[in-house]
Amino acid sequence: MKIRKLTLTTGAAVLLAGAASAAWDEYKPLFALGYAEPEEDQLVHIPPTLQDLEDAAMSPELKDVVRRGHDLFVDTQQLRGQHVFNDMNCASCHMDAGRQPFSAALWPAAITLPDYRGKNWQVNSLEERVVGCFTYSMNGNPPEYGSDTMLAITTYMQWLAKGAPVYPDQEIYGRGYGSVAEPEQEPNYERGKAVYAQSCAICHAEDGQGLKQDGQVVFPPLWGDGSYNWGAGMSRINTSAAFIKHNMPLGQPNSLSDQEAWDVAFYMNSHERPQDPRYTGDVHETREKHANFHGRTLYGTVREVDGHLLGDHDNTGEKDFLRPEILRSRTFD
Ligand code: HEC
Ligand code: HEC
Repeated sequence: MKIRKLTLTTGAAVLLAGAASAAWDEYKPLFALGYAEPEEDQLVHIPPTLQDLEDAAMSPELKDVVRRGHDLFVDTQQLRGQHVFNDMNCASCHMDAGRQPFSAALWPAAITLPDYRGKNWQVNSLEERVVGCFTYSMNGNPPEYGSDTMLAITTYMQWLAKGAPVYPDQEIYGRGYGSVAEPEQEPNYERGKAVYAQSCAICHAEDGQGLKQDGQVVFPPLWGDGSYNWGAGMSRINTSAAFIKHNMPLGQPNSLSDQEAWDVAFYMNSHERPQDPRYTGDVHETREKHANFHGRTLYGTVREVDGHLLGDHDNTGEKDFLRPEILRSRTFD
């Protein structure tokens, strides 16, 4: 059987007792939802649940920190105005509180970092990876290295990796958002707009601003000041096409065709959002300087339908600064 060749690890106590199938059963419903099954020699890890945490032989103090990290991850809005300056929670883009494959599950970062990242041309620690998502996806001002908030979030991630090998040789099953085959036709605004009206507007609203009720974000905005900024991975069409294909519409993953996912990702990212914190004051220069990143965004390009130059503005959204001070290059001097 194919599965025997996989490296299957889990943070759940049941598996340590030898009942591998109990953990595997948890993954089976995913295949019924259209997710690819693991390939031979891939590493499949099933992260522990909060119930496993209760049952685990860990100090009560450590359990409290894991719970705090989980709570910050699913309700990051509690840091609004301090570290978060848009309507996002971490879990808005990382489904099942960061446990789900093809939804940028968190545990792979915990077993593969520190590692080199082409995004900032240096080796990044787990804390620096978190700083990245606060800076771009949350349009925010990241918590200090070593702070209680940083400790809680990184402890939660590392706990999700419980039982998985560090720096594995195998490829990781379901890492990131997966990928979608390059589209047959160039992604197109008008077709994307039609997919949006059909499959997305019911929750994210016609104007892309989502839904807030009693000050709580029910459906997050997809563009504008409440959304991720131009430096966020989600603004790359390939990344958002993969996210959308494998996670949206909510409750019906894998239901769009590949072409529809590309088209709607293109449409979504043809709208304005807060400035890239790496902005040099010139949108073309910024695009050029970060060509490896912006090669797949529409930032600094002209929107065909109305001639608008995307990203050509000084709007930083709800925050009153462009670039968090915590971002710095490493020199080893
Ligand atoms: C707007 C969407 C969005 C939000 C909100 C968001 N992220 Fe992410 N996150 C991404 C994308 C995109 C990636 C890159 C996925 C890929 O590699 O394809 C990512 C990747 C990650 C990774 C690395 C995963 C890996 O496989 O190495 C970590 C860790 C992470 N995010 C943590 C966070 C934390 C913590 C927060 C909240 C402070 C957060 N993210 C909020 C979109 C988001
Ligand atoms: C049934 C309601 C629903 C539908 C339909 C839906 N979404 Fe979502 N979407 C959500 C919710 C809720 C979240 C946040 C995830 C969470 O909190 O579990 C989300 C998150 C997102 C995100 C990441 C967060 C952000 O705001 O950037 C993107 C991008 C997204 N959806 C795009 C789409 C697209 C494109 C479609 C149509 C193909 C779509 N969604 C259809 C409810 C929906």
